[in-house]
Amino acid sequence: MGERGKKSGKAPVVAIDGPAGSGKSTVARLLAKALGWVCLDTGAVYRTLGWLARQEGVSLQDEEALVALCPRLQAISFRWSDAGGLLVYLGDRDVTWAIRGEEAGRWASEVSRYPKVRAALLDLQRSFAKDAPLVVEGRDTGTVVFPEARWKVFLTASLEERAKRRMMEMGMPPEDVNLEEIREAIRERDNQDSNRAVAPLRMAPDAIEVDTTELTPQEVVERIKKLMEG
Ligand code: DC
Repeated sequence: MGERGKKSGKAPVVAIDGPAGSGKSTVARLLAKALGWVCLDTGAVYRTLGWLARQEGVSLQDEEALVALCPRLQAISFRWSDAGGLLVYLGDRDVTWAIRGEEAGRWASEVSRYPKVRAALLDLQRSFAKDAPLVVEGRDTGTVVFPEARWKVFLTASLEERAKRRMMEMGMPPEDVNLEEIREAIRERDNQDSNRAVAPLRMAPDAIEVDTTELTPQEVVERIKKLMEG
């Protein structure tokens, strides 16, 4: 998986969007695994750009310089780990851990505000559906990247639940974590992602909304599978 083919057929696409911590990544990975489909984490694309900018000393406020870095993202690929996780590579470098965490999320949120950056990364994201069925997740995959996706799902969850999930992801002992700080960071990122001028976080009019607050990832996957059988 991870290699993008050159055919331009229209493979079926499931687009899963939603705010930080709504369960998109976990659900998209489980669903893609269950279906044997390719999985594209579009947040990882923006995170990798933010990471690359930091590596190269490029300001996260310099739109033109960020655009100039975008062609290097052609080297991004996703591979399944033995444990069933999705690893992110830039060329042969595993950046999975480097782009995880709230700080990289903030970088991603910064660089993704720029219209020219988003435009520069559009074809790359679309290329993942050229030769294989795709499960894609992000903020605008059902509205902008794949407006013709056959299935669109918008995941939500309470802020409290989303903060708890982020805390679990960090793998830190609860006493070392300031839940209020995480809540605030998520609220800030929601705000930035929802209020930017281009491709803001928004539910597509033809998407199905699923509140995941009380659901396990497997239960969400089952719902989406039902929708697909539909
Ligand atoms: O899903 P995530 O937390 O990995 O996304 C990180 C940031 O990337 C998010 O705060 C906004 C941006 N993003 C975006 O603008 N559009 C997408 N399709 C996916 C992510």
